[in-house]
Amino acid sequence: MSSLSAVARIAYLASETLVDSLPPLPSNPEFASPFTSVSQLSRRRPNLISVPYGGDPAATLLRATGSALTSFTTLSNSQTIARLVLRLAELASSPLVLHIAVLNDLSDVLILRTVVPYFLLSTTAQQAHDNALLASKLARSQKTAVVHAFFSTKEGSDTATELSEENVLNFLFDEKGLVNGSNDHTNGVNGHANGVNGHSGGTNGHTNGVNGHTNGTNGIDSSEDVEDDGVALQLFRAYEAAALNTLKAVRRPIRPFTLTGSSEPTTIIFILGKASFEASVEGLSFVDVSLLSPLLPSRILGAIPSTVTSVIVLEQVQNWSLKWTPLYLEVVSAVQQRNHATRPTVHSGVLGDSTQITQVELLKVLQKISQSTSPLRLRLGSTNEGKVPFQVPHIPKHELSYTKILAHLFRERLDISNSPNLIPAQGELATSPEFALGRVRGQIDERTKLLTAVQDLLQSGNINSELHTLLSKWVLAKDDDIRSRSLGQQITQKLELANPSVGVQRVLALRSHFPSVSRWIIGSDAWSYDLGSSGLHHAIASGLNVNILILDTLPYSQRNSADPTRRKHDIGLYAMNHGDVYVASVAIYSSYAQVLQALIEADKFNGPSVILAYLPYENEDVPALGILKETKLAVDAGYWPLYRWDPSKELSGEEPFTLDSDAVKNDLQAFLDRQNHLSQLVRSKPQLATELVSSLGETVKEIRKKKALHSYNDLLTNLDAPPLTILYASDGGNAEKVAKRLSNRAQARGLSTTLSTMDTMSLESLRQEEFVAFITSTAGQGEPPQNGRQLFKAINAAAANESDLLSNLRYAVLGMGDSHYWPRPEDTHYYNKPGKDLDARLEKLGGTRFAALGLSDDQDADGYQTGYKVWEPQLWKALGVDSIEVTEAEPEPITNEHIKAASNYLRGTILEGLEDNSTGSLAPSDGQLTKFHGIYQQDDRDIRDERLAQGVEPAFAFMIRVRMPGGVCTPEQWLTINQIADEHGSGTFKITTRQTFQFHGVIKRHLKSAIQDINRVLLDTLAACGDVNRNVVCSSIPTMSKLHAQVYQFAVSVSQHLVPRTTAYHEIWLDKKLVAGEALKDHEPLYGEFYLPRKFKVAIAVPPTNDVDVFANDLGFIAIVDGNGELAGFNVTVGGGMGVTHGDKKTYPRTGDIIGFCTPEQGKYIAEKVMLTQRDNGNRADRKNARVKYTIDRMGLDVFKSEVEKRLGYQLQPAKPSAFDRNVDDYGWSTGEDGRHHFTMFIENGRIQDESGKEFKSGLREIAKIHKGAFRLTTNQHLLISDIPTEDLPKIKNLLSKYKMDNLSHSGLRLSSSACVAFPTCGLAMAESERYLPILVDKVEKICEENGLRNDAIVMRMTGCPNGCARPYVAEIAFIGKAPGVYLMLLGGGYYGQRLNKIYRETVTEPEILDILKPMIERYALERNDGEHFGDWTIRAGYIAATTSGKEWYHRMGGEEQFA
Ligand SMILES: Cc1cc2nc3c(=O)[nH]c(=O)nc-3n(C[C@H](O)[C@H](O)[C@H](O)COP(=O)(O)O)c2cc1C
Ligand code: SF4
Repeated sequence: MSSLSAVARIAYLASETLVDSLPPLPSNPEFASPFTSVSQLSRRRPNLISVPYGGDPAATLLRATGSALTSFTTLSNSQTIARLVLRLAELASSPLVLHIAVLNDLSDVLILRTVVPYFLLSTTAQQAHDNALLASKLARSQKTAVVHAFFSTKEGSDTATELSEENVLNFLFDEKGLVNGSNDHTNGVNGHANGVNGHSGGTNGHTNGVNGHTNGTNGIDSSEDVEDDGVALQLFRAYEAAALNTLKAVRRPIRPFTLTGSSEPTTIIFILGKASFEASVEGLSFVDVSLLSPLLPSRILGAIPSTVTSVIVLEQVQNWSLKWTPLYLEVVSAVQQRNHATRPTVHSGVLGDSTQITQVELLKVLQKISQSTSPLRLRLGSTNEGKVPFQVPHIPKHELSYTKILAHLFRERLDISNSPNLIPAQGELATSPEFALGRVRGQIDERTKLLTAVQDLLQSGNINSELHTLLSKWVLAKDDDIRSRSLGQQITQKLELANPSVGVQRVLALRSHFPSVSRWIIGSDAWSYDLGSSGLHHAIASGLNVNILILDTLPYSQRNSADPTRRKHDIGLYAMNHGDVYVASVAIYSSYAQVLQALIEADKFNGPSVILAYLPYENEDVPALGILKETKLAVDAGYWPLYRWDPSKELSGEEPFTLDSDAVKNDLQAFLDRQNHLSQLVRSKPQLATELVSSLGETVKEIRKKKALHSYNDLLTNLDAPPLTILYASDGGNAEKVAKRLSNRAQARGLSTTLSTMDTMSLESLRQEEFVAFITSTAGQGEPPQNGRQLFKAINAAAANESDLLSNLRYAVLGMGDSHYWPRPEDTHYYNKPGKDLDARLEKLGGTRFAALGLSDDQDADGYQTGYKVWEPQLWKALGVDSIEVTEAEPEPITNEHIKAASNYLRGTILEGLEDNSTGSLAPSDGQLTKFHGIYQQDDRDIRDERLAQGVEPAFAFMIRVRMPGGVCTPEQWLTINQIADEHGSGTFKITTRQTFQFHGVIKRHLKSAIQDINRVLLDTLAACGDVNRNVVCSSIPTMSKLHAQVYQFAVSVSQHLVPRTTAYHEIWLDKKLVAGEALKDHEPLYGEFYLPRKFKVAIAVPPTNDVDVFANDLGFIAIVDGNGELAGFNVTVGGGMGVTHGDKKTYPRTGDIIGFCTPEQGKYIAEKVMLTQRDNGNRADRKNARVKYTIDRMGLDVFKSEVEKRLGYQLQPAKPSAFDRNVDDYGWSTGEDGRHHFTMFIENGRIQDESGKEFKSGLREIAKIHKGAFRLTTNQHLLISDIPTEDLPKIKNLLSKYKMDNLSHSGLRLSSSACVAFPTCGLAMAESERYLPILVDKVEKICEENGLRNDAIVMRMTGCPNGCARPYVAEIAFIGKAPGVYLMLLGGGYYGQRLNKIYRETVTEPEILDILKPMIERYALERNDGEHFGDWTIRAGYIAATTSGKEWYHRMGGEEQFA
């Protein structure tokens, strides 16, 4: 087995991700075949990614760093190493092994040594095998990067005994064997180690083979009293420990140095490289070095006995370009630490081909050094001195198909600026995009100089008329390919004969630029891959008239999902987004004519052109037919659409986008849906409500439009006042509102104003600006908001390096923050940090402040407006417009109220928006309206930053919520819901806290079909969100079948009674047209055209279970049962509500108040009148103060009640006694009065999905196929399979058990926990919730278990923001997201939802949560009274005060020490 196969096998077995760097063509990928061989025998399946030669492996490795271990395999070559070295520092603390095969020179690979903690070298196949294991262990356990360089040995020339797969895996994954950096080895092994490995040479007794060395893995003793660097020592210890573990596994010595030769040497040769000296020379010993980093001076000295007078350091570095070689420097500096008398002389030497070193040669060297007392530079073995001449890269023959067309089309005009033929003269970098762009820029500059020189000459009058005519003609025809050339030739001939004046000489010197040239840069996977990755951006941004042809050779059938960033066809989208770039996507084996057309158009286009050319081939032997087939597949499948995008056509009013692939035309919708890139491919249409447009999704468009807007404004403004650019960064909309207000007010004062988010401005453009007002809020912990982060980053970086980059800029900053958001004294620096930082950095960069830094604080009397109002007048003053009287009223800001009123009963422009293929989103105003239709626009927040950085709009998708009163559905409906999730959504669906289904990830094109499917099974989504009555929820009481039926019917009737009557829903989603050509006008008898001020929630509870948390709803009905078990009526509650805004004390949660009793028949009318009272009295000016709870507190409960009764025309009866005892679900089996059976199953946080070992989605689908009863959803996000006839029990039980859905052996804590969705889909989330709560429960339930509370229910809830969807404010313990990883902690809620909890700590992270809860739960276990619940106990124990009403929520908040 060769060293390469041995290493490949270990890398394959050891890693989760394996990145293989392919060698230059035409070599075959060396590691590929060993990978294939091992994959046939192994059960391991690492994620295998190939990086083309010239590609940037570091970028791929950075993306793979989530793996427990990533291995990288490559042959050593300067290009790959150079790319790695730049980024390796970033990877140094990731578990990563770089296995680099070396042929006969370590020069390249040694460059990596300084950027990684560990550098191992193997010279034999066996050593390579063992060191590969060691490196993997070390990287995995220490979470660090390890370079393992090994000499590539031929198959059969060297043998290696391999460790079996089982042993490899045991060794690597055995936790006990983990290296911890300490010397925890046992003596037994130690003894064994030394016994075996004290010495490997065997020819001579040696210095320390017999010693009882402390760690047994090292052949060298560190006996010298030398102090090693602490960090290096720690790293070395970890190496020693890993080496010992490896030794135990392989039973072979693993040592940093191996000694052979004389035991009492006078000369010692350190060897870094592959050398096998057959020599046995008296007084000479050898040290083979296999650990180059960390290298301890004490170990080096330990290897040099005091008898030694000369040390030779031989290194196999034939092309080393620095003066001193690495090991030599280490040895010399170690030796310096010895006292002068015993210090040997250290000579350096380059080791050549060691197979040819004879004993005579060696003796000659020894003789030479014996005659010299000063250090010598030696050479041993044949070396090829000097650099290897640059090799012209091989251009694969298939690529000629494109380059030949270029040559044919443009003939002499063709200039390939990164042609490989330039390499011999210009060096290896000649094919790099930087070089090519530099060359193009230089040539264009020269041609401009030629034009100036010609014009000067024409004006000088020093030339004859014939020359004058020729030169004038050339000026006119300089861009004509044929005439510019022929005229140039004639001009040159004449000039050579003319009077050699300075002007003539200047033109002659530039004559080569007479012909118009077609300039091309080619990006090829084979020899200039980087153009397709990093280089392209520079080329596009350069704005130069250059054509870029990028070849994509990745066959369709091998498209790499493991490394999706290699999708070159996305480059087209990127380039199109950039604006003035010609873009074409072509495939020569699909349409030759289209290739020609695109090349010609690109040549004509005056600016950068990008042509993406498809040429799928794996290697050179693939026949043309193979390429043809792959191309057809890719084009037909829409993977590689053929198109051309010519922005110059826009000027003449033509459509710039042309789709050239017929097959794709038919499949376009499907393709674009799949890729979610619809928005990019077709030209964007201006949206209707432009004044509303400025959210994140519009950023890309804004960048494009900004310039045009600027000049338009310039035209409009006649005043002398300078233009004002307003840049804002806002997460929640406050800063955006303020910026818009400022912009309106500036325009009213006659200023030309440009308004955009900070990220639409580059640092470069900022330099051109004169007056800029920045408005930034504060997000996270003192961080800038998302849409300002790029510019903040750029300004910070510039401020760190340069001093007066922005010396022309006049600026003013308004920071917006909340001085109480992070209330702990140590966190005060977070207050308004971005604003303060920005102001200081701009000053550092030379900018001049034209108004003092303004700071607005949410805590001020008038909220953030207070600070703004102080700041604004300074701007007018500085801009000289303070005396201008503004007579016209400022345009009113557009609010949801306007949107509703103008929507024509919830229509807006939703229909048009659905048909607009230019974006995956809807217009912001329509986004507000679709909520009324049960649809919420969202985007994947996990990838939002990444997409913004790439210049593409966020990954928009919609959430759909079903209206399903009482949460009951049939098996058929279940199956449809399941199918919709698969076909239109993210493949999973969720049971919500409002007892309904919710889908995520539905893209715009699928919205309509999804909604039609829902309606087909008699469900709908109308009013599931929005300012209307939401889904009516009711208790799921399994044992009382009859009562449930009555209560459920009541829920349905209330829902039906309050549902909006608009026909817009049917018209838009179900294609039902209005009767008689819109003659019928919509009418909303209950809502009117403004609908409600805010959402309205109704719940119906059946005591003693308060599973619906009736007190958390705007309106509640508590069922009262008469003596016969019949439903007598309901106690009515009003004014519950959960939503709060962090830091805004005008907002608070509230529990509902009981206002009386009603009969079942009266119920729906009471619901109507409560809703109408709210409709007419709710606060429409401030959505944060609009819920019923605030209306009641403002009006007073009695007034509100009497208003309801006035509308009813009668008074409510007095409330009847009733009591709750829990709000958690009754899990498990129960049987109703009618003999039917029900099973309440636990579904963590309501997510219906298939996970390994918990295939609930499949299981429930199987149950739905045979179930004859119903499914009932609970508001705790769990599920009842209900109404099962006895005869079906075995079948259902069987399925429940088969899919492990009957497992209820969870802790009481888990069974009582609940979380909202939050990241990645909820746009309001500030922290994780659904994805994190289960992890937190794991940890808290351990504490409970330790204290004997495993089965005790403690209601613990979490939400990602203070909106409170999972009703956290009535939980016994709650966590509410403030920023990633940081939560508000609340305690003291009532066990059955009867009492609000209270803020206990304003910022906690996980360690703090656990530190708080541990002693608290311990005490609770010991001190609680019989039956006392945790929430009650925390109040009795003095941790928190009881909350008596919503208005009192903030009173005495903050926990024990703060109010004691
Ligand atoms: C998640 C989050 C984190 C915040 N962090 C801070 C902070 O660290 N410092 C601060 O002064 N204000 C902080 N604030 C307060 C906001 O900056 C303030 O409410 C501002 O008015 C919001 O403006 P916006 O809606 O434009 O984002 C934070 C607000 C939120 C929602
Ligand atoms: S509580 Fe906040 S984060 Fe959670 S789902 Fe509701 S709005 Fe989103």
